Amino acid sequence: MTSELKLGLPASLGSLPADFVFGTATAAYQIEGGWNEGGRGMSIWDTYARTPGKTRNGDSGDIANDHFHRWESDLDLMQSLGIPAYRLNFSWVRLQPTGSGPLNPQGVEFYRNLIQGLHARGIKPFVTLYHWDLPQTLEDKGGWPNRETAIAFGEYSRLVAAAFGDIVADWITINEAWCVAFLGYEMGQHAPGKTDPKLGIAAAHNVLLAHGLALQALREVNPSLNVGITNIMNHVVPKTDSAADAAVADAVDVRSNRVFMEPLYKGAYDEGCFAAFEQHGLNRVPAAGALVQPGDLELISAEVDFIGVNHYHTLIASAELASQGGMPAQMAEPNHQSNWGWPNTPWGLKGVLDRVARDYSKKPIFVTENGITLADYATPEGKVNDFDRIDYLNGYIDAVGQAIQGGTNVAGYFAWSFMDNYEWAEGYSKRFGIVYVDYASQIRIPKASAYWYQNVIAEHNKKATK
Ligand code: NOJ
Repeated sequence: MTSELKLGLPASLGSLPADFVFGTATAAYQIEGGWNEGGRGMSIWDTYARTPGKTRNGDSGDIANDHFHRWESDLDLMQSLGIPAYRLNFSWVRLQPTGSGPLNPQGVEFYRNLIQGLHARGIKPFVTLYHWDLPQTLEDKGGWPNRETAIAFGEYSRLVAAAFGDIVADWITINEAWCVAFLGYEMGQHAPGKTDPKLGIAAAHNVLLAHGLALQALREVNPSLNVGITNIMNHVVPKTDSAADAAVADAVDVRSNRVFMEPLYKGAYDEGCFAAFEQHGLNRVPAAGALVQPGDLELISAEVDFIGVNHYHTLIASAELASQGGMPAQMAEPNHQSNWGWPNTPWGLKGVLDRVARDYSKKPIFVTENGITLADYATPEGKVNDFDRIDYLNGYIDAVGQAIQGGTNVAGYFAWSFMDNYEWAEGYSKRFGIVYVDYASQIRIPKASAYWYQNVIAEHNKKATK
């Protein structure tokens, strides 16, 4: 019974609209390698990964999946699996090595070939402009806590739109502002590894401003482009219905979700944001020279074409945890199949999607990432039997269908990730792919989940062609 369930189709698959977009996602630094080729510059991740003690085993993305050299066969594999869409990221330092000046022609050529390669294979590209590889030159001038970085990103985006607007229609400005700002500048767990709450909130606001400036630039270059921003959204629930647990859950929600969603979709920070961040420099009244300046919120909240949501975690918050001084929330139902203890709680994804529609926007929502890391391995016969990933994806895609049944406008789902890759500070110890990568040989092996996903897409396509 269990295996039938695991290998079956998502129960609500038939509820997805015919034009629903299925895809997979990656990011440049996690797969490309070729760190010193093609005129690429140094990013904060090159620096961070080279700093002793920062990443597991000192792993870096220097070689990663060597996708820089293997992109054609990788796209062939994607096509052979019948995957209709691909969310990829243009490396800022490959296209503009020092974060200013004209684009690097070799970088433009690389990505134009890649995009043409996708079109030639019938795969629709969704391009993320910023997936964490800030030019080190800009970090040296203060990085994201410096407003100038947002302005530089707007200018960079304008050049990229001019160079690619003819072949890329769908754009995501920023990936996961939360990780950029708080993991990078407050918690020190991601590049550039800073640990100052003032820098964290300054980075958070400036990353939102960078989104607003990029959106404006893309629209000015080509008004027909579809532009959105991807936020990571946690589903946060209080452990009990006590007022104390509700208050802790609310505070966790502010830091996880509202500090980004409120300014983006309501044009203002809310009281919860001021309670958390006013002491660290978030000003209530926009003012010249302050963090929030006149006009910022208008730029940040300009209407997007779609909402990107990355979702991985359902968190249970409690006053008891908060009183212990550590994290005030923990993963709901940590999944012991995951080698990172991440939960398998599809209802959390439904909760997040319904909330976006209810509280923030009726625009189409794309799940731009969702997936799980497992301790995958290849059998001597060369098979990767990741049945727990199938179970996971099945449940989450079903949750998308259930959200759609309830009236939430979900337009697409991108599995994270197309292939195993460099998981940032966790190095190569975490495998999220539906395609297995043997890093020593760079051989790719589609996992059982890749064939399952292929089947899900094929079943869905029958509806589309009816
Ligand atoms: C979100 C990030 O965008 C991606 O780069 C990362 O690998 C996955 N989460 C998994 O942690």
